[in-house]
Amino acid sequence: MITNTELEYKGNVFPSKIVSLDKDVDTLLFTTENDVALQIKVIRDSVLRFRYSTTGIFANDFSYAITKYANRGYNKLEIDEKEGVFVISTAKLICEVSKVDLKIRLFDAATQELINEDELGFHWEESYEHGGDIVKMSKVSQDGESYYGLGDKPNHLNLKGKRYENWVTDSYAYGKNTDPIYKAIPFYTGLINKKAYGVFFDNTFRSFFDFAQERRNVTSFWAQGGEMNYYFIYGPKMTDVVEYYTDLTGKPHQLPPLWALGFHQCKWSYYPESKVKEITGTFRKLQIPCDAIYLDIDYMDGFRCFTWNKEYFPDPKRMVRELEEEGFKTVAIIDPGIKIDKDYWVFKEGLENDYFCKRADGPYMKGKVWPGECYFPDFTNPKVREWWSDLFKGLIEDIGIKGVWNDMNEPAVMEVPNKTFPNDVRHNYDGNYCSHRKAHNVYGMQMARATYQGLKKFSYPKRPFVITRAAYSGTQRYTSTWTGDNIANWEHLWIANIQVQRMAMSGFSFAGSDIGGFAEQPHGELFTRWIQLGIFHPFFRVHSSGDHGHQEPWAFDEDVTVIVKKFIELRYQLLPYLYTAFWNYVEKGTPLVKSLVMFDQEDMHTHYRTDEFIFGEHILACPVLEPNAKGRRMYVPRGKWYDFWTDEIVKGGKEMWVDADIDSMPIFVKEGAVIPKYPVQQYVGEKDIEEVTLDIYYKKGKENSQFFDDAHDGYDYTKGRFSLRTFKLTGRKDQLIIQQHKEGTFKAAYKRFKIQIHGLPFEIRNIQLDNQTIQLDHLKINGWQTMVIDENFTELDLSGSL
Ligand code: NOJ
Repeated sequence: MITNTELEYKGNVFPSKIVSLDKDVDTLLFTTENDVALQIKVIRDSVLRFRYSTTGIFANDFSYAITKYANRGYNKLEIDEKEGVFVISTAKLICEVSKVDLKIRLFDAATQELINEDELGFHWEESYEHGGDIVKMSKVSQDGESYYGLGDKPNHLNLKGKRYENWVTDSYAYGKNTDPIYKAIPFYTGLINKKAYGVFFDNTFRSFFDFAQERRNVTSFWAQGGEMNYYFIYGPKMTDVVEYYTDLTGKPHQLPPLWALGFHQCKWSYYPESKVKEITGTFRKLQIPCDAIYLDIDYMDGFRCFTWNKEYFPDPKRMVRELEEEGFKTVAIIDPGIKIDKDYWVFKEGLENDYFCKRADGPYMKGKVWPGECYFPDFTNPKVREWWSDLFKGLIEDIGIKGVWNDMNEPAVMEVPNKTFPNDVRHNYDGNYCSHRKAHNVYGMQMARATYQGLKKFSYPKRPFVITRAAYSGTQRYTSTWTGDNIANWEHLWIANIQVQRMAMSGFSFAGSDIGGFAEQPHGELFTRWIQLGIFHPFFRVHSSGDHGHQEPWAFDEDVTVIVKKFIELRYQLLPYLYTAFWNYVEKGTPLVKSLVMFDQEDMHTHYRTDEFIFGEHILACPVLEPNAKGRRMYVPRGKWYDFWTDEIVKGGKEMWVDADIDSMPIFVKEGAVIPKYPVQQYVGEKDIEEVTLDIYYKKGKENSQFFDDAHDGYDYTKGRFSLRTFKLTGRKDQLIIQQHKEGTFKAAYKRFKIQIHGLPFEIRNIQLDNQTIQLDHLKINGWQTMVIDENFTELDLSGSL
């Protein structure tokens, strides 16, 4: 019997007292009288790994989540003995291990504050049915402690008081209380006394997290197999916790091509070719920017992956080329189920090479998906991944497809009660042979990885673009993601906002929802509000099931088209700002959107906020989530903010009403920010950009901003051909200085910046550019001081009189 509760005391076994301690460089090994072994490895000063064995023997140390590129190394490692405990000290953490029962306590090395403490600590139940153990950990939940993260859970951002399960599941029309859904990201951040730490439980079996739900003062996690193997990550800044976690499980291997940050239009399905062209043509006719058009399963011949329905798409290569001439990149769906058809080449290759998953006693894993009965490649086999990646040659190299969308990779199986493979299916697991119980949560990740390898190979010298539905920790290295089959209602707009923030806190920033809702039909108002939110989501795609009508920007009233167009245009203007944030994510793991708690964890008011978030470093956005609203109440975090629409300055740290009729939404810019903007384009690369606008928001004091740029595709940026500009703003009551520091060798086409200064409190009397007094034409437009200067400036100094 597998218990689904951590507190099933009967049958629980606990470690007894420590009998030995061995040390090998960065790894300590404690052994107890009853043969429990605890390995503590110092990964960095602020990251410790805890790994337990109930027999004294550890399994082969293998993880799909942890990347070999993770930063390692520490400044200090000392081991002492005190009464009853061993004490391990690094520069950031003190870890006490109880000699009596192996319980752990973790302290901030600088302040000696207790951050985290085992309650029952490690314990386990033997699993007679499957072998191995159900491994459990329970920790004290302190009063006032909050919890965040855990991937795509669709409920309140703060996880406190809830229990969640990790088992990736096809979840058509899920709701706020559906659990689990598509992703398994067993990582959370705890926040106690304004200090943040993270726990990453790297175990791919079905796992559970209980955040003070079962018992008020206890947080626990457990899995139905494998090892108790977790990483403790200390901040104390929440952003640092997420950055360290992302470093450990991997930052995206490269920047996306810039077009992938543009607007994407999708539906199940656009066919035949004339329909696709009608859609793309309408975008251009109405001058609504759009970069990508999607082909869902109906482009295939009988839903066979890597084939084309020649009736609907007689000449895909020509069509894709013609779309490209209009600036559209074509993205095609690929599912894992391979139709059982002895005349189908992919099926034949898979069969001949023994690449399909098998049941425990030998037969193939047979399951129904769109094409009918299918077999499924075992993506946990490296040879299968290699084969799969090569299958993309035709689609990418020959036809010219620019992105691939991996769906149904939980893996989803139709008409069976558990919606997926039975537990006994066997997997290679990169040579660590196992059953589906262990491989299930990584199946989709390994499919996306194989797809990514294919795209990387065949798109070269361009960058790959992949989307996946299922994911385990680390999937962010390879692909973007969406939140699955949501519903066209207001609650789902709330959910979409939560999920994208939560994914970003879980190391996976390149995420978005099906804008407008997948199931059912939105009315124009909901669609408009969803687009408004969507412009602040890294992945920005409209998608719908197609059963309930149309969801293109012109499918509603004309008013809707006008407003939606205005917001999509704003997204295109903000592309250099978003791209800069993306670069920070790829370099440092910095989340692209930050929930308010992550922006200001010191402010208790942020701990339970859900709707407001920071986009990049300097923009605060808050979607309107109710019908008929002419605005909403929202919390503006501490600091001074400019209303994006009116330039009115708001002092934060309070909840307030913000006007936002249907053609607007609450957007604020942090004072001191320099926001780079491109002109509106119909698609990325449409225009040679001759001038970049810098919107500068005056601040009395100092603020830094960045602007990253490169060729928008390809790998030259990895060889130094990028430009990274840091703008240092210093404002005084009658002076504003902007200094520019430039790194990298990339030469952009633009030679000028158009400066637009917001909120300048004085009249400009004197302008010094690079220490020369000059007469620039500067004008007041919309109340902003504007001027055009060379993009190479190093210092712009404006002074004047009040
Ligand atoms: C399920 C996916 O979630 C959805 O986005 C897609 O349109 C359908 N499968 C059909 O491929």
